[in-house]
Amino acid sequence: MSRDNAERHLTEANHSTDAADSPQVVNLTALAGDGIGPELVKSALTVMESACAIKGVELVLNEERGGAALYQETGAALLPGALDRLRRADGVLKGPVGLPEVRKPDGTEAGLLGGLLRIGLDTFANVRPIRLLPGVAAATRAEPGSIDYVIIRENTEGLYLSRGAGVRNYHAAVDQMLITRAGTERIARFAFEKATHRTGAPRDGVRRVTCVDKSNVLRSFALFREVFDEVAAEYPHIEADHIYADAAAHALVVEPDRFDVLVMENFLGDILSDLGAGTVGGLGMCPSGNIGIDAAYFEPIHGTAPTIAGRNLANPISQILSGAMLLQHCGQEGSARLITTAVERAFADGSIRVLPSGGPANGTEAVTEAVVERLTA
Ligand code: IPM
Ligand code: MN
Repeated sequence: MSRDNAERHLTEANHSTDAADSPQVVNLTALAGDGIGPELVKSALTVMESACAIKGVELVLNEERGGAALYQETGAALLPGALDRLRRADGVLKGPVGLPEVRKPDGTEAGLLGGLLRIGLDTFANVRPIRLLPGVAAATRAEPGSIDYVIIRENTEGLYLSRGAGVRNYHAAVDQMLITRAGTERIARFAFEKATHRTGAPRDGVRRVTCVDKSNVLRSFALFREVFDEVAAEYPHIEADHIYADAAAHALVVEPDRFDVLVMENFLGDILSDLGAGTVGGLGMCPSGNIGIDAAYFEPIHGTAPTIAGRNLANPISQILSGAMLLQHCGQEGSARLITTAVERAFADGSIRVLPSGGPANGTEAVTEAVVERLTA
């Protein structure tokens, strides 16, 4: 695909929100996953079906298996042909996967799908919105509205390209970090496109893309920053900003309102998005999208919490908001907005309360009901 074409597809995939032109059928594939995955996905599908029904949109549901339980059964974390089937869906809703006891001989977890799906589907942009909603008790002091940024985590290279491919013997191990010009260029462009469609940082309303790296220490990050700066020059109406990753960890806690869009390497994005989640009510609040040119899947940023699985204890908000992101990606802006507004209302009027443990005070099903009740045309 030519660069122009890729850019156009990217922009459309990322911002195809014109409901008037969009089809009224969404072909959705659900991959329920392990641990708390099935109950979260069930909750999100209930909310999505209700929202779509209100908007006259038909959700056609397919199911795909994947994860640690499947690996235990079959020796593979995905079924044959899964990538092709996932590519054919308009959007994929994925629950968390992995079980701590299901390991490969090298000690890493066997049921994880990050490497398989992100590389296999080339979903190079991991979009992680971090927003503090009114009525949510957060661990840090911040006004609702003052934390509203999105982390764009590069998803196909960086340190995690070494997943399962590092070298080790008894004495030592090495995992290498790969940064390419092409990979950095497309993720930087994605970040600037994202900023174009947002309203700027809470502090000053300035549209800003912050490049997070350690270019003061590593050559790989110096290349990342150099390419970022080249792409930034194509977007003169958006402020290009830089911060070292260690300082970013500090700033995301003490002055989160300065951030609008942040772009970073895979491993840094993994870590800093969990840090961000800690400032907005925990991992259970945070959705994500893995976006490529011809595939996209949406999932919570947390794991499978096997110790609380099946007990109506998990917070389904991350999965529900992932469902809203999926609908928005499929051009169903109306249904997506119904869901996010319902979630906001349910927190604001006190009907959802998240305990310091991260679990909802009244259980998973009560959260689902509270959101569904607040979906109004
Ligand atoms: C994430 C997760 C995954 C990752 C794990 C579970 C493989 O932490 O999506 O943030 O490392 O990317
Ligand atoms: Mn993670």
